[in-house]
Amino acid sequence: MAGPDEPEHPHGEPAGADGVLILPPDVVHGPQLWQLARGSQVLDVNSSYAYLLWCRDFAATSVVALADEKVVGFVMGYLRPEAPDTLMIWQVAVDGSQRGNRLAARMLHDVLDRSAPRWMHTTVTPSNEASIRLFSGVARDRGTTIERRDLFAAELLPDEEGGAHEPEDLYVIGPLAGT
Ligand SMILES: CC(C)(COP(=O)(O)OP(=O)(O)OC[C@H]1O[C@@H](n2cnc3c(N)ncnc32)[C@H](O)[C@@H]1OP(=O)(O)O)[C@@H](O)C(=O)NCCC(=O)NCCS
Repeated sequence: MAGPDEPEHPHGEPAGADGVLILPPDVVHGPQLWQLARGSQVLDVNSSYAYLLWCRDFAATSVVALADEKVVGFVMGYLRPEAPDTLMIWQVAVDGSQRGNRLAARMLHDVLDRSAPRWMHTTVTPSNEASIRLFSGVARDRGTTIERRDLFAAELLPDEEGGAHEPEDLYVIGPLAGT
């Protein structure tokens, strides 16, 4: 039973002081993930179907952040089939109204606590300073290192208009405590 100052939380982490609850996604959250990705103006937007599948099949390595039952953030991750001790983070997004409150960092720590990988990987475009700072901060918080490596060159990432996509650099965070 939650105390008077403590929101009820039938699943997931207790809501923080800001009332935001972090928990694994459900398929009902899929459309809101798609909308948040679209609204970010930064992320490559996958189909709404892809977000549904993600919420169904990769819930154990992903989280949503809910404020008043509305999705205000998400992390999409998976364990690499070839290296199941490696958590690959595909997308992270936080609604503009919630940025700067450490929500992205809290979501990443939550996914790390749940899946306990040895390594965390992500890819970031060179201009995405916020994302580089986010992952560097999580590495620092976990007392481990972060290393940049070349991964996907720009020519491997054509877009619909035939324009130039930035390269996607690989960031390797770890070793982590693991299981
Ligand atoms: C990147 C993003 C997820 C950060 O969310 P957030 O909840 O505001 O981030 P946090 O408050 O948890 O900040 C974590 C760290 O990143 C830093 N950071 C966050 N946004 C930053 C920005 N715009 N510029 C510089 N540093 C930034 C914070 O200072 C903090 O650093 P610290 O740990 O050293 O204190 C959010 O801006 C967003 O959704 N952007 C659009 C989508 C995107 O770029 N996703 C990442 C690529 S997958």
